[in-house]
Amino acid sequence: MTQETALLSTSPVTGEMNAPVRKVFVKTYGCQMNVYDSDRMSDALSRDGYVATDVLEEADFVLLNTCHIREKAAEKVYSELGRLRELKKEKAREGREMLIGVAGCVAQAEGNEILRRAPAVDLVIGPQTYHRLPEALKRARTGERVVETEYAIEDKFDYLPAPDKAKTRSRGVTAFLTVQEGCDKFCTFCVVPYTRGAEVSRPVAQIIAEAEKLVEAGVREITLLGQNVNAWHGVGADEREWGLGDLLRRLGEVEGLARLRYTTSHPRDMDDSLIEAHRSMAKLMPYLHLPVQSGSDRILKAMNRRHTAAEYLALVERIRTAQPDLALSGDFIVGFPGETEADFEDTLRLVEAVNYAQAFSFKYSTRPGTPGAELKDQVPEDVKAKRLERLQALLTKQQRGFAEACVGREIDVLLEKPGRLPGQLVGRSPWLQPVNVDAKASQIGDIIKVRITKAGPNSLFAEMIEEPRARSLTA
Ligand code: 5AD
Ligand code: SF4
Repeated sequence: MTQETALLSTSPVTGEMNAPVRKVFVKTYGCQMNVYDSDRMSDALSRDGYVATDVLEEADFVLLNTCHIREKAAEKVYSELGRLRELKKEKAREGREMLIGVAGCVAQAEGNEILRRAPAVDLVIGPQTYHRLPEALKRARTGERVVETEYAIEDKFDYLPAPDKAKTRSRGVTAFLTVQEGCDKFCTFCVVPYTRGAEVSRPVAQIIAEAEKLVEAGVREITLLGQNVNAWHGVGADEREWGLGDLLRRLGEVEGLARLRYTTSHPRDMDDSLIEAHRSMAKLMPYLHLPVQSGSDRILKAMNRRHTAAEYLALVERIRTAQPDLALSGDFIVGFPGETEADFEDTLRLVEAVNYAQAFSFKYSTRPGTPGAELKDQVPEDVKAKRLERLQALLTKQQRGFAEACVGREIDVLLEKPGRLPGQLVGRSPWLQPVNVDAKASQIGDIIKVRITKAGPNSLFAEMIEEPRARSLTA
């Protein structure tokens, strides 16, 4: 029996009076694309009267939006499902229903296997079919165990609702906007081409419309998302084939939109037009996440990255010539099968040469179904751990160096949310660092000039620079 909560409302879809308000708790793992998807799924469910809650115990439906990129990420989901099973039992004893859904890349990769391993799960839904979630949930509520992991022929973005004004506002002054999904690169370590499918770009008009809606609701900064975002392409209003550079220039014309970012890029798709955007567009923030994974040509080849270390360094040079103030960020994998000490030293050398402002580094994790899993010469765990420690020590030193070089600089900060101390707000520097500054809550959404006074381990501290007073007319 389903326990209906006391709240009653009108369903916007059916118009049914006194439809029960059900609560959905969404937990998001992994990348920013999952954050975007979780919001879209909540929006789709709200049409059926579901209200989002942060309190797990209150939820009628718990949805885990999962990540399959490394083994650890996938295993986390199963341990969470174990805990949820207990909560579901407890609720059942009180006569209350709690449905459990699994979305995201684990759902896509493991499908029916999840139902077998986790008997409490009612619903499994892959990233290509999120627009079918409300319907799937209705079926699950009748007792069916639903698995929706077929790639849909229809475009989910045509069916998923764009966020409404109030919801967008509650999510803050920065927003994600997915412009591209999937990947055709097939790096030999990576599950993405299998879980997210082939590269698909959203059409220009759809992206512009969503951006305008976000800005109308108060968003000042948009980050364009894609597993391979700089592979985005589409036909522009001028009938020309556009790349990401053209799209960014068009978005730069959206009135009220102050800042643009994009992530994640592949070195092979950094074309001249995109590099030019970094030179000429003040709204495009001087920050670039450009994963290289390894500094060894032998390993880059085995990873199927399709470029050498020297080509990556030359590319970085070209981008920095266009935008000398650029903060570079990267991803690294240590211990890919066959990686020798000499290969690893090559990675350290590349890191020294680039000088990263920010980076993410991981031990290689064997992913079933990828070519890397078939390779002999897997590197022992303790060797991976030691290499990771050395690499992270160097990357952390560079990150600190970058932050310290900001001290004394006068920069623009977009104020985002209340800080930890009363009277303090947290904003973002152009290079994506959090910046703590004394400011009024009413200034959230403003871009202010500050002077950086101190660099902490994970954020900067700043003081506001007084705007020159307008001269009095009577003086
Ligand atoms: N093992 C370790 N790290 C991985 N990544 C992707 N696949 C794996 C794997 N099998 C890392 C890459 C990628 C980031 C999102 O995750 O560095 O850029
Ligand atoms: Fe994975 Fe490589 Fe595609 Fe990035 S480019 S999503 S690492 S296959």
